[in-house]
Amino acid sequence: MLNRNILSIFFYTFAVHIDNLNTMAQKILVTGGTGYIGSHTVVELINAGYKTVIIDDLSNSSADVIDNIEKITGVRPAFEKFDLTDFERVEKFFADNSDIAATIHFAASKAVGESVEKPLLYYRNNLVSLMNLLDCHLKYDVNNIVFSSSCTVYGQPDKLPVTETTPRKDAESPYANTKRVNEDILRDSTVANPRLKGIALRYFNPIGAHPTALIGELPLGVPQNLVPFITQTAAGLRDELKVFGDDYDTPDGSAIRDYINVVDLAKAHVVSIERLLKQKNKENFEVFNLGTGNGYSVLEIIKGFEKVTGVKLNYKIVERRAGDIVKIWADTTYANEELGWKAEKGLEETLLSAWNWEKNVRGMK
Ligand code: UD1
Repeated sequence: MLNRNILSIFFYTFAVHIDNLNTMAQKILVTGGTGYIGSHTVVELINAGYKTVIIDDLSNSSADVIDNIEKITGVRPAFEKFDLTDFERVEKFFADNSDIAATIHFAASKAVGESVEKPLLYYRNNLVSLMNLLDCHLKYDVNNIVFSSSCTVYGQPDKLPVTETTPRKDAESPYANTKRVNEDILRDSTVANPRLKGIALRYFNPIGAHPTALIGELPLGVPQNLVPFITQTAAGLRDELKVFGDDYDTPDGSAIRDYINVVDLAKAHVVSIERLLKQKNKENFEVFNLGTGNGYSVLEIIKGFEKVTGVKLNYKIVERRAGDIVKIWADTTYANEELGWKAEKGLEETLLSAWNWEKNVRGMK
């Protein structure tokens, strides 16, 4: 009996060791890895023992992010700067990197307003990049890919909270349409090529920054999203925050979203990669909602920020923003149960991390 126990401990230890060795040996391609969610994900992949290589054209991020990832983790990720719409360049990358185990595809244009003005830019950039990657995955036998999708595919859902089976709605913008079409491109590719496995992660509203304040969200120009606008207003870069509408059908009249900490979100990518690499997926194409399950209004976010930072925000209620939905939040049951992942960080901690990041960027104490 004793011998059998000793034997099973030995085999367990051996298996864990082999498992770790496997993980450590595996190389993950992160496209858009110097961007906001991408950089946090690279940190979590490195923390979990993966090798990482980033492709980014730096059109909306800076190479300094790589230095800061190294400061946080002690490991410098490999980096190549090029545009994923250049098929020959993508193909050369895969020919040179035959040891890629999986890809997380973040690289995309993401400004909703800009996408309405420049639809062709959005369709070309977002769709062609994914198609080039998939062609190379198939050609070079890289069979695992995680795609960065968005809850934008649900539009204004008829029923809340939103589950993965909630019907998608017609897209409100070219940006939203690229997410929807890219999900379909990935799904159809897995159907046509059964060795290819894909996971689409539908993010709710990612906010906050790494607790070291070394990486975070750094919008070019005037921020379009709520939390960067709040932190820039608090830092004195913007005179006034505009609250888009207080006459919605919500308890305080302002719109409701499910704000998720970016580090929690990043960790869900590591779990998704493990699911694919360890072949724990149930279907060749799977979809998960990544949110907290809680909805907060714009005014609640403002009050939460003021409370946790002690900074008073100058804000004004203005007209509703065109294209905004009233309310959305996730049902996270499927991600919690299937991925074994749950958002852990609370709203106040997350808002404080966003503020610490902004202060760090601006050189404030
Ligand atoms: C938007 C996109 C979503 C995309 C995400 C990327 C739409 C409809 N959705 O989400 O597809 O994935 O950005 O980051 O565009 N707000 C203000 N004042 C501001 C900024 C925002 O009141 O200065 C309000 C908005 O009206 C909204 C909430 O804050 O009610 C959140 O807005 P935002 O951060 O822009 O995210 P979404 O619009 O939810």
